Amino acid sequence: KPLIFSGVQPTGNLHLGNYLGALRKFVAMQDKMDCIYCVVDLHSITAQLVHSDLKSQTRQITAAYLASGIDPVKHIVFNQSAVPQHSELAWIFNCVARIGWMNRMTQFKDKAGKDRENASLGLLAYPSLMAADILVYRATHVPVGEDQKQHLELTRDIAMKFNLDFGDAIRRGGQGVDITVGEQPVHAYFPMVEPMIEGPAPRVMSLKDGSKKMSKSDPSDLSRINLTDDTEAVVRKIRKAKTDPDALPSEVKGLEGRAEADNLVGIYAALSDKTKAEVLQEFGGQQFSVFKPALAELAVTVLAPINAEMRRLIDDPAHIDAVLKDGSERAGAIAEKTMNGVRDIIGLL
Ligand code: TYM
Repeated sequence: KPLIFSGVQPTGNLHLGNYLGALRKFVAMQDKMDCIYCVVDLHSITAQLVHSDLKSQTRQITAAYLASGIDPVKHIVFNQSAVPQHSELAWIFNCVARIGWMNRMTQFKDKAGKDRENASLGLLAYPSLMAADILVYRATHVPVGEDQKQHLELTRDIAMKFNLDFGDAIRRGGQGVDITVGEQPVHAYFPMVEPMIEGPAPRVMSLKDGSKKMSKSDPSDLSRINLTDDTEAVVRKIRKAKTDPDALPSEVKGLEGRAEADNLVGIYAALSDKTKAEVLQEFGGQQFSVFKPALAELAVTVLAPINAEMRRLIDDPAHIDAVLKDGSERAGAIAEKTMNGVRDIIGLL
């Protein structure tokens, strides 16, 4: 049965990239499938163990989920550490995955920097925990931004190796299903997850440099729109966004080689649920002096209500905690079922 899983780290403010690459897609999936959305607090300690306030950051992301329109009653919203089966499965996946696989992860290389020997072991094993997050629910579809693609390929590699290594035990346990991967028939305990990366803004770029991803760690606050920014800040950041001097093209291929223009058109398209081609039908031939105010108005229309609702929710931490507790209990029940099977397949007594 199709099932959606995705997660967001509770580190720093969420920005427009997180909203368009993840949250907005999470909301859109709710009518189509069952969804489990997680605040991955254990991932956020891999880069930096001590946080000034992990609890309030966790509540903040939860508030962003709810304010964006995720329904925690029909679906499940919870924090990762409250369901210990994630960590248990991650340990088993640490024994399935190879060190070489982890060493090849571009996010690890970026985050570890030059002093790789001194990065935490958790940062190296990060993708194992991410695979466990998804597969402990045997989820099939994962909406994410483009930057998570490599991690999802690794999730498939881990699932595949587990399925193959334990093929006989999975068959004996009677909990597997026959699937084909490429041409190969596999008796699978874990599904092959499908990344959902499509859409006009799978990788939202910095407003100051079209070659860099919009990111929480960029030292310039003008490079990103935060979900906590007020209207004045959103308008100012879009007005100051880097562009080239030319008018917008009337076709998508005219955006080639124009990274900043491409980015702003993609943002407009994602915020209005249109394609870039449709946006260019409307704005092709117009100058940025016309397009930017239209984009700012659209961004404010979409983001201001989310911003206001987040503020309202943050004022009631008890409510947020209750949502997470309820979600954790429901998630835990599913996760425990999967782990029962895993323990048996592996031969843990
Ligand atoms: P995180 O917390 O860095 O980001 C959360 C989500 O936002 C997306 N994103 C972007 N999308 C488009 N443009 C951008 N500039 C941009 N920046 C961030 C990310 O792709 C992500 O979807 N490892 C994950 C969290 C995670 C997870 C999981 C995700 C842990 N376990 C299981 C899916 C399934 C991460 O660090 O995301």
